[in-house]
Parts: sequence; C-alpha cells; structure tokens
Amino acid sequence: PDRYAVIGHPIAHSKSPLIHGLFAQATGQDMTYGLIDGGADEGGFARALADFRASGGRGLNVTLPFKVQALAAADEASEDARLAGAANALRFDGGRIEARNFDGIGLVRDITHNLGAALAGRRVLVLGAGGATRGALRPLALAGAAEILVANRTADKARALAEELAPHAGACVLRGGGFDALPGAAPFDVVINATSASLSGDAPPVPASAFAPGALAYDMVYGKGLTPFLRAAQAAGVTRVADGVGMLVEQAAEAFAWWRGVRPDTREALARLTVPLE
Ligand code: ATR
Repeated sequence: PDRYAVIGHPIAHSKSPLIHGLFAQATGQDMTYGLIDGGADEGGFARALADFRASGGRGLNVTLPFKVQALAAADEASEDARLAGAANALRFDGGRIEARNFDGIGLVRDITHNLGAALAGRRVLVLGAGGATRGALRPLALAGAAEILVANRTADKARALAEELAPHAGACVLRGGGFDALPGAAPFDVVINATSASLSGDAPPVPASAFAPGALAYDMVYGKGLTPFLRAAQAAGVTRVADGVGMLVEQAAEAFAWWRGVRPDTREALARLTVPLE
C-alpha cells in the first residue's frame, strides 16, 4: 500500500487518520495513513520529512506548528499556499516536493456545500489577522464574496493583510481594520472567527449589529462545543452556528483527491465527527 501520514506536534489527538481511513475504504484505495510527531526541537520536522520520504512515503498532511516549514521545504507550491505563507499538504513526486494549502478551500466548501450558506455576493466578516485568516481570504474572495472585512485586535495587522491580499481577491472588496470599526459597519451575512481567542476561552468583541438576519456564525476551531464566540452570536439572535469540523473534513477531502485522483464523499466522515453544539 502507498503510505501517507499527518505530521504535527502535538499530534496524538488528530482526527486525520480516521478521516482518511474512511475515505480510503469508501473509494477502495490501497493506502495507509499514520501519525508522525515532529517533536519540539529544531530540525525535527526536516528529519521526520526526510525519513518519511526515504521510506517510500507518498504524501503528508501538515498541521501546527509545521505549516510554514512545510512550504519552505517544497520545490513547487500552489498560489493558495504561497499567499497563505504555509502548506497543509505535501506530495512527493519523484525527487520533488509539491505543496498545497487546502484550509481555505475546505472552509469555503464547508460553508457553501455542507452548511448551505451562500458566499457569492455576500458580505463576510473575518475576525483575526493571523495565519488562519491569511489562508482563508483568497478562497473566500474567489467564492464570490462581494466584500470582506478583516477585523483584528491589532488593527494595523488587519489593514496590512487586506492590502497585501487585495490584488489577489478578484472583484471582492477586501478591507481591514480594528474591532472598533464594527459597531458602525453594515451587517454581515457570514461572520468567521479566525482568532485563536477560543483556545483561551475568550471571544473577539463582536457587536450584535454585525450579524445580518439569517447570518451564519462560524468558528474555525472544532471539538470545543459552543465557543464563547458562538455563544455571543447566539445571544445576538443568530441561529446558524457552526464550528470548524467540516472545514477539517473538507480540506482532507481536497488533499485525498489531489493525492489519489479520486474525490471522496465526505458525508460519512462528517457524520462520524460532528457533535451537536451545546
Ligand atoms: P493563527 O495562525 O491561528 O491565525 P496567529 O497567527 O497567532 O494564529 O494569530 C492569532 C490571531 O488571533 C491574531 O489575529 C490575534 O490578534 P492580534 O493580531 O491582535 O494578536 C488573535 N487573537 C488571539 N487572542 C485573541 C483574543 N483573546 N481576542 C481577540 N483576538 C485574539
């Protein structure tokens, strides 16, 4: 069988082996999918990558904290990976390393296919201006969002990021600012939390007026139940809330299709991993 794996640190609780195992079974692919802990010391990722390739590995998913190193190790990268400054999937083709970043397209597919929310022509608010936002902006723009506002605790970081990515956003109007711009802004149809605030039990300060009627509130984290951000959205009257589990499954499907040339149905993996938000 062909060998694949996910590499990160820590990695023990990754859902990727389960997801890719389901995909492989459903599509009849002869492959294995393992876990690699890249460790905490410098050089750990490079060594693990070299070992895996030397032993015949065909491709890797890459998660924290190695996504930037994964891009740097590649001979060729997609525009999404280059603009994200990070890769979450690698493919080993002869002596070459190819890099992709499917996080943004995974987010778009989850929102539009699984959650049934439109992006085309809509106003989108993205909270946070770190790596997660960087990877999401071009895919959201190319999905047809009319306007994207990046709002961040550090306003200058959001402005700089929006300015950098605006030339790659097609017809989408991409702007950045601080959270203080939100109370005066027109409401948004999709509000995405891409800050790491949930991880510390915090919520970015979003006023109730930021949510349009029927808005979707989306938190990129998963496995945390209703996050402070999603609770705040509900308190503002939002009834459509989602965490990032579907984004995880959809980015995995993109990587699987890229590696194997066959697109897996994601419904079973979604059903297995989705827990009711409460
Ligand atoms: P990631 O790669 O997950 O995006 P990151 O690059 O460290 O991580 O970015 C984290 C983002 O979450 C940043 O936008 C950060 O805001 P600052 O740029 O002002 O630091 C944001 N963030 C982290 N904790 C937050 C909090 N408690 N409230 C609001 N924003 C927070």
